[in-house]
Amino acid sequence: MEKVVHLFSFVKYDGIDSLNPRDNALLQQARKATSLAYAPYSKFHVGAALQLSNGIIVSGGNQENASFPAGLCAERVALATVSSQYPECKIEAIAVSYNNKTGASERPVSPCGICRQSLAEWEQKQHFLIKLVLGGMSGEVYVIESASLLLPLAFTAGDMKKGG
Ligand code: THU
Repeated sequence: MEKVVHLFSFVKYDGIDSLNPRDNALLQQARKATSLAYAPYSKFHVGAALQLSNGIIVSGGNQENASFPAGLCAERVALATVSSQYPECKIEAIAVSYNNKTGASERPVSPCGICRQSLAEWEQKQHFLIKLVLGGMSGEVYVIESASLLLPLAFTAGDMKKGG
């Protein structure tokens, strides 16, 4: 019997102004990207901005649907755009922000479970860690060095290989 401990740490900043210039610019783009959301049902407008290895930033907003499960999170909208438009590029970082039209938007939220799984897949396929920069429209910002840190014991391609 062995008890396994999984440690997780991240860095908390007082606000966007404390970030390095690159993370600051990316979070600003994520805040802007909240205007790309189509969220008439939740009124929770999420924006994601992905920093690519070629210097380009790709943005996305959540896209909802009257059939709720058909909706897409901002993170996966942006990830799909990168796959389709810049398949040769690595993703270096993702910033996520949100504008809650029915409440406050002043503390970070972190990607949902499905988005964590999608980000983990990307890290695996590109052999490069994706940094997360999480913040609302104002307030504290969390910086996490690798998206996979949010998904311990993730199910990955390696789990499907024959012979374990
Ligand atoms: N949402 C995102 O876009 N990203 C997340 O990480 C969490 C949730 C969206 C999905 C839905 O359109 C709305 O926020 C409320 O859940």
